[in-house]
Order: sequence, then C-alpha cells, then structure tokens
Amino acid sequence: MNPASPIADDVYFEHFFRLLEKNTGIALDMSKEYLVSSRLVSLAKKYGHSNYVELLKYLFLNPLNSIHQECFQAMTTNETMFFRDGYPFEALKTSILPRIIDQNKISKEIYIWCAASSTGQEPYSLVMMLKENFPVLNNWNIHIKATDLSLAAIEKSRSGIYNQSEIQRGLTESQINRYFMKLPNGHFKLTDDIKKYVKFDCMNLVDDWPILPKFDLILLRNVMIYFNQNTKLNILKKMHHQLSGKGSVLMLGSSESILYEETFQVVQLDRVSYYLKK
Ligand SMILES: C[S@@+](CC[C@H](N)C(=O)[O-])C[C@H]1O[C@@H](n2cnc3c(N)ncnc32)[C@H](O)[C@@H]1O
Repeated sequence: MNPASPIADDVYFEHFFRLLEKNTGIALDMSKEYLVSSRLVSLAKKYGHSNYVELLKYLFLNPLNSIHQECFQAMTTNETMFFRDGYPFEALKTSILPRIIDQNKISKEIYIWCAASSTGQEPYSLVMMLKENFPVLNNWNIHIKATDLSLAAIEKSRSGIYNQSEIQRGLTESQINRYFMKLPNGHFKLTDDIKKYVKFDCMNLVDDWPILPKFDLILLRNVMIYFNQNTKLNILKKMHHQLSGKGSVLMLGSSESILYEETFQVVQLDRVSYYLKK
C-alpha cells in the first residue's frame, strides 16, 4: 500500500481490470501486473503522473473518458505477421476459397471479414494470396473488411507502411519486390494495388456491432485467447449470425476452438481446423 494514499493500490488495479474486461473483453488479473506497468508507463508520463499506479488512481477517480480508452488500447497485444502460421493460408488456398468461389459463381462477389486484424498483415496476406492463386477473381467484386479495437493499429494498417523486420516476417523476397515500394526513410509501403482491396475500421467486438454485411469468410484469429468463456460464447454466436449461409466459413487461431458445435461443422485439414456454418 502506498503510504500517501488512503486506498490500497490493489483497489486501483482491480478497478482497472474490471473496466478493461467490461470495455474490451480482455481478462487480466494481478498475475499480469508487469504487463500493466510496462504498457501504461508511457501514458502515465504523457498525462503528468509520477508513475503508472497514479494513472490507475486517476482512472479510478474519474468517469470513463478518452484517457481510459487510451489505456484500454495500450493493453492490447498486437503481435501479428504476414501469412501467420502458414497452414491456415494453405487451407484457404486449396480448400476454403475454391469452394466459396464455386458457391458464389453467379453473383461474382465475395465478402470477407478479418476481425481483430491488428496492424493489417493478415488481410493484406489474404489479398496477396487471392491475387497469386485466383486469377478468375479479376472481374469479381471482392469486399474485405478488417477491424480492430486499436486505433493505432488501424491507422498503421491504413498507411500500409511497414519496417524491414515486419516485411521480412512471412513474405518472400519476390513478394517484397512485387508488392512494396522502398521509402527514403528505409520503410516499405504497400502498393495501392493491394491496399485498395481492404477497408479498415475501428470496431470493438464486445460493443454493440454496427450493421454489417453477411460474410462468406470470417477470420477471427488470436484474439479470443484474451477473453473469458462468456465473452467468447457471445462473440461466437454473433459471428455465426454474421456468416452468409450454409457453407460459409469461420477460421480461428491455431490454439482456439469453437466451444460448441451444434451450429458449425468442424473441418479438420492437415494441421488446421475451420468451421462451416451448418
Ligand atoms: C494478437 S492480435 C491478432 C492479429 C491477427 N488476427 C493475427 O492473428 O495475426 C490480437 C488483436 O485483437 C485486438 N483486440 C483485442 N480485443 C479486442 C476487441 N474487444 N475488439 C476488437 N479487437 C480486439 C487487439 O487490438 C489486437 O490487435
């Protein structure tokens, strides 16, 4: 307990964890104190607090405002890379997309949603994969929506600018040469020919959702690991509703699963599971 404060610091932590979970779904406890300190230290400085516990105290004493939101966003883990895990993109190429293309051959339209897309590598990988393997889609309407809670991640995605180590994670030399322009500062900018396919927006999966189209394919990868069971179930039900119809597909991260299987058919392909709407 801080001697200058009549309230134990734990109260500020617990209050922050409650607010964080209610507003983002991210469930943390005192075992993650180091994470809070490392993520909030620069925001504490930015807002004139002598340390991050003082910032937590401010959050405790004040009604929800933009500083709370900034702190929530600072607690997100944005780890991602181009063609992350490899196998899911193989499954998309060899099995999932050929079926969706066949199902939609009359409308010549495909709707895809990358929910929790972080800094954009996932949806951009998808566009590269489509361009490299499905020339038949050249005269189709491809709608790719990508959303994330973090405004900073969405802004970076929209810029399409990555540093050297980011582009070297997951891309081949030939993809780097084909899809990026080197900038004078040594960073790399994606060509408009890839960028133009993806529309990025901020969206919080635990809030009420805006009106969205129905999707043929939803990627919801490596985000539900941060949520509790109830939050996962609610989001999965809403994802099911958001899929276009029988045969549309939900893909989760490699360590995530669907929890209930009455409304989805699980397909196991090599090292990947994906979920078909029944
Ligand atoms: C580890 S990244 C996963 C990125 C990408 N899907 C991948 O697999 O490489 C998790 C992302 O989930 C986002 N996130 C966390 N909670 C969220 C929420 N409630 N709504 C929307 N996005 C959220 C974070 O901002 C972060 O960018």
